Amino acid sequence: MSLTLGIETSCDETAMALVADGRLVAERIATQIDAHALFGGVVPELASREHLRVLAPLLDDLLAAAGVGLEDIDNIAVARGPGLLGSLLVGLSFAKGLALATGARLVGVNHLWAHLTAPALEMDISYPALGLLVSGGHTQTYLIRSPLDFEVQGRTLDDAAGEAFDKAAKTFNFPYPGGKFIDVIGQRATPDKSMFPRPYVNNDNLDFSFSGVKTAVVNYVAAHPHLRLPHMPEAGQDVEDLLAKAGVLDEFAEVCASFNWCIADALRIKVDRALTAVKEQGVTSLVVAGGVAANSVIRRVMTELAESHGLTCVLPPLRLCTDNGAMIALAGEKVAQAGWKHDLDLEAIPRGRAIPWDYQRIVEEV
Ligand code: KG4
Ligand code: ZN
Repeated sequence: MSLTLGIETSCDETAMALVADGRLVAERIATQIDAHALFGGVVPELASREHLRVLAPLLDDLLAAAGVGLEDIDNIAVARGPGLLGSLLVGLSFAKGLALATGARLVGVNHLWAHLTAPALEMDISYPALGLLVSGGHTQTYLIRSPLDFEVQGRTLDDAAGEAFDKAAKTFNFPYPGGKFIDVIGQRATPDKSMFPRPYVNNDNLDFSFSGVKTAVVNYVAAHPHLRLPHMPEAGQDVEDLLAKAGVLDEFAEVCASFNWCIADALRIKVDRALTAVKEQGVTSLVVAGGVAANSVIRRVMTELAESHGLTCVLPPLRLCTDNGAMIALAGEKVAQAGWKHDLDLEAIPRGRAIPWDYQRIVEEV
């Protein structure tokens, strides 16, 4: 048995997990959501400092929970990008220090591939698969030939789907991150499919664009000013209760349902197209991952779409959708098992730059 530690610090969650032979041993997560909520979005400098503050105690806690010591770890997997550069550097420096001190192998992991590998912790994924990654920072489709072989099919030209959810929520003055409020409140109503335009569907390509629908929401709220809460609810305050007391719950529910529908339907159209485009590759499953894969409408739409193509829909449980350490550990374990590692010169890759395949072959000492 080999033990892999996964370290995730690419955005606003400091997360760590131990995985052994494809199974989760233990995990710990320290979320920074409250620290950033005040600013309505992630403040990069604050994120780096928070990662630095909690990494070491989180590791102590994780090792104690698993009943193992540093000397038991074989591989140290760390998210090397894409993400916030300062945050990635904190995680990478920590991982390198541990690797140097323990002699464990260092494995840098592509955060996006890790999201799409995560469901394998709980269910089998058959390859080749089409992957839809929908998160706060990214929206892309991939042809996945194996957990080590991803080829981008379509990507967003501007905002990610999660950003669209969060920006719409910010326009309503919902707390950050607002995606889940739109989902939950929208479940109370039937969408009005003509309320917002489905973004970037009248073309024949596989890419996405969500900036237009964000503007549509801003314009809608400008025309219906009561759809902006006068104050952002306090942390822990029940948003639905607040809307009900203000007498606007039903109206908000319809707006949220309509917005959610138009994002989900734009995703459906592009994923449908991507599935048709890769048909000859013998794709057997549709894997949906990333924070927005927690969305109830998107889960339903993708399940139905996979069925209509005769494919299995692989949807991770909610706790594996958002950023976590287990996905990094699992993806790193797969890289190490395939015989690859990094040296201590491993570089962090910020958002917007391609992640190179720069692994070194593992040479077993005799
Ligand atoms: O994957 P993730 O944890 O972080 C990134 O790597 O970006 O995704 C976070 C995103 C946020 O935009 C959040 O609003 C969104 O996932 N999200 C949701 C839901 N739960 C989380 N969006 C829509 N519906 C949800 N239920
Ligand atoms: Zn993520």
